[in-house]
Amino acid sequence: MTYILAPLGNGFMIEKGKRYCLIGGGIGVPPMLYTAKQCENPLVITGFRNKDLIILQDDFKKAGAELVLTTDDGSAGIHGFVTDVLKEKIAEVDEVCACGPTPMLKAIADVCKEAGKPCQISLEERMACGMGACLVCAVKVRKNGEEIMQHVCKNGPVFNAEEVVFNG
Ligand code: FES
Repeated sequence: MTYILAPLGNGFMIEKGKRYCLIGGGIGVPPMLYTAKQCENPLVITGFRNKDLIILQDDFKKAGAELVLTTDDGSAGIHGFVTDVLKEKIAEVDEVCACGPTPMLKAIADVCKEAGKPCQISLEERMACGMGACLVCAVKVRKNGEEIMQHVCKNGPVFNAEEVVFNG
């Protein structure tokens, strides 16, 4: 017999009446499809290393998204990073939600901070227990001016980008 404990953690908070920019990088793209289905006319920016790794473009279109594709090597879509597109289009949206590798999330958080736009990020960490017991997924966050450790599995995976203390 197989046992599954799910769902664990939180998700993106989507408010009616706001236009969202949803950004996915690599394996961070699939979670944004579910989020896109909850939004009205979202701007979706997906980024992949190259054209062979592209997924879900038709599904995002079916979900009613304005879709922008980027690849690191320029083999499809725009040659560049998701943040290049975000910088150009951030004035068109009210809030940003993103999932993908940590350097990408940090770069997105910086763009949003500069533009004064709220940003939610879904952190990727290795996980073991999934319930806040093993401490494998600890992340540093700043709350009320104090730096504290939280668990990506239990307190996240989605955090307010302004609260996350990125290393380096
Ligand atoms: S995975 Fe064990 S505390 Fe998060």
